[in-house]
Amino acid sequence: MTDRKLILGIESSCDETAAAVVANGRDILSDIVASQADFHRQFGGVVPEIASRMHVEAILPVIDQALEQAKVKLTDIDAVAVTYGPGLVGALLVGLSAAKGLAYASGKPLVGVQHIAGHIAANYLADQELEPPFLCLVVSGAHSHLVIVRDYDEYEVIARTRDDAAGEAFDKLSRAVGLGYPGGPLMDKAAIGGRVDAFPLPRTHFDNSLDFSFSGLKTAALNQLNKLQQQAQREQKSWMDIISLQDFAATYQHAIVDVLTSHTMEAADQLNIKRLVLAGGVSANSALRRSMTLASADRGLMLTFPPLNLCTDNAAMIASAGYYTWKKRGTSDMSLNAVASLEL
Ligand code: KG4
Ligand code: ZN
Repeated sequence: MTDRKLILGIESSCDETAAAVVANGRDILSDIVASQADFHRQFGGVVPEIASRMHVEAILPVIDQALEQAKVKLTDIDAVAVTYGPGLVGALLVGLSAAKGLAYASGKPLVGVQHIAGHIAANYLADQELEPPFLCLVVSGAHSHLVIVRDYDEYEVIARTRDDAAGEAFDKLSRAVGLGYPGGPLMDKAAIGGRVDAFPLPRTHFDNSLDFSFSGLKTAALNQLNKLQQQAQREQKSWMDIISLQDFAATYQHAIVDVLTSHTMEAADQLNIKRLVLAGGVSANSALRRSMTLASADRGLMLTFPPLNLCTDNAAMIASAGYYTWKKRGTSDMSLNAVASLEL
C-alpha cells in the first residue's frame, strides 16, 4: 500500500481545455493544455458558445493524452479533480460532466476545485518547500485579489478589485491599440525597452483599504490614445509617430504593475508576512515579476511565482489544489454543479 495519491485534474473554465496528472499535489506527471485562443482572436475576446463547443471536441482527447503522457490508466488514478467555478458556465459544464462521467465509471472520488484556489496551488508545483501561511497576489483575467492563505484550502481575501481586473485592463488596452487578444502577453512583449513615463496616468488608492481599481487608469489611457489619434489625424500621420507603441505599452504596464506592487508590499508590511506568492495569468507579466522581485528583496520577503506555463490556465494546478481540498474537506458528490461566480 502506498500513500502516493495520483490526481487527474480537469480544467475548462475559460478558453483552455486542460488535463493533468499530479502526484501528492506536488509532482507533475503530465500537463496537457489545448488553447482556443487562436479561434477567439478574430472576435477580440472569448465567445462563450464557441468556447463550450470547442471544449466538447477537445476534452476527451486531452484527458487521454494526459493519462498517456503520465503513463497511467484511469484505474491507477486516486481521484478526479475538476474546476466547478468561477468561469463561463457552459465551458465549466463540459469539464465537470467529463469528470463526473470518469469518476462514476471508474468508481473514483470526485473533488470540486475553485479555480482561484487552483491558481494559488500552482505555486506548490513551482516550489516544493512552499507551505502556508503566506500572502498571495492573485491577478487573472477576471480577478485581482490579495489573499492570506492561512492553511491549505483556507483563504482570507483581504483586498479585491472594485471594478476591472488587472488582466482585463491589459486586454482592453491591447485591443484599443490594435495588438489584439489575448492582450496581456502582447502588451508585455510590446513594452520591452519602452519608456515608462511617456504620459501621465493616475494610480487609485483608497483610504483604509488595499482594494484595487483599474478603471480610472484604463479610461485615462484610452483618453490619451484618443487624443493621440486625433492629433495624428490632423497632422496626417500615425499616433505611434507621436508616442511609440513601445512607450505607450510600457507606460501603461508600469502603472498597473506599480499599483499591484505597492498594495502587495503594504499588505505584507501591515500583516508582517514574510512569505509572498504570485498567481494567475497576469503573474506571467515580466515587469510585474521584476518589480515584485526587487520590492521583495528590499524588504527581505521570500517570493515565489510559477513558471510561465503554470501562471495561465492549466490543469496541473487544479490537480494540486484538488489533492489538498480532498485531504482537508473530503470529496464532492455527483450533484456538484458549475457555479459561474464561485467565491474563493
Ligand atoms: O489566469 P488566466 O489564464 O485566466 C483567468 O483565470 O482569467 O489569466 C488570463 C489573463 C488575461 O487577461 C491575459 O491577458 C493575462 O492573464 N496575461 C498577462 C500575461 N499573460 C497573460 N497579462 C500581462 N502580462 C502577461 N505576460
Ligand atoms: Zn485562470
